[in-house]
Amino acid sequence: MPTHNSTLKAHPDLESVMFTESQIKRRVRELGEELREVYGQGEFTIISIINGAVMFTADLMREIDNPVRLDCVRISSYGDKTHSVGTPQIVSSLTIDITGRHVLLIDDILDTGKTITLVSGLIRKLQPASLRTCVLLDKVARREVPFDADFVGFKIPDKFVVGYGLDYAERYRNLPCIGVLSARLQNPAGAPLGAAGAGSAAGTPRSSGTQSGPG
Ligand code: IMP
Ligand code: MG
Repeated sequence: MPTHNSTLKAHPDLESVMFTESQIKRRVRELGEELREVYGQGEFTIISIINGAVMFTADLMREIDNPVRLDCVRISSYGDKTHSVGTPQIVSSLTIDITGRHVLLIDDILDTGKTITLVSGLIRKLQPASLRTCVLLDKVARREVPFDADFVGFKIPDKFVVGYGLDYAERYRNLPCIGVLSARLQNPAGAPLGAAGAGSAAGTPRSSGTQSGPG
């Protein structure tokens, strides 16, 4: 059976590893403690912004033993670019009732702030008892809409990162670490996505014609 060591085996499409698997694990555990300080033993409803927050949500949920309910919203914004294009759209909305509930909104990364502002607005309209937000990563320098999350895993510089749920054109979500995507693979000029990295994991674009894809 092959051994697995994420700190040694950085993906070839990464320029550098920003956070190793064990650093992420440690910080997610701490975030679980921070949640416990705020929510005590009380019940709350987690709303996860998929696809990006899938792994973070799954791991964070296992760090708390409160009674929790879970729902997901799917938002489109990025398409196959490393910078936000246009306004995010709700592709799939809530399916459970959150009126009068304590809601924790979870996303993978806070960038321009447009996505979390959009989803927070949607949630507030449904009159929850409270709304708090939790993001694993915060790219403070890129904010276009002012927004401070209540719980932040790591503040990071303005670099395009992938792994641990974060994607580029739907790839790399399954990396156990978070790393900076090589510049040569980012939005290659004049070339269809993936053409710059022949043989790399970004070799195939996601569905053509879709102007935006799930974050
Ligand atoms: P915002 O609406 O600009 O704040 O963007 C938030 C969404 O953009 C996140 O949910 C991510 O899906 C995506 N995003 C922003 N920065 C990155 C990045 O560095 N890597 C991968 N996805 C990102
Ligand atoms: Mg994304």
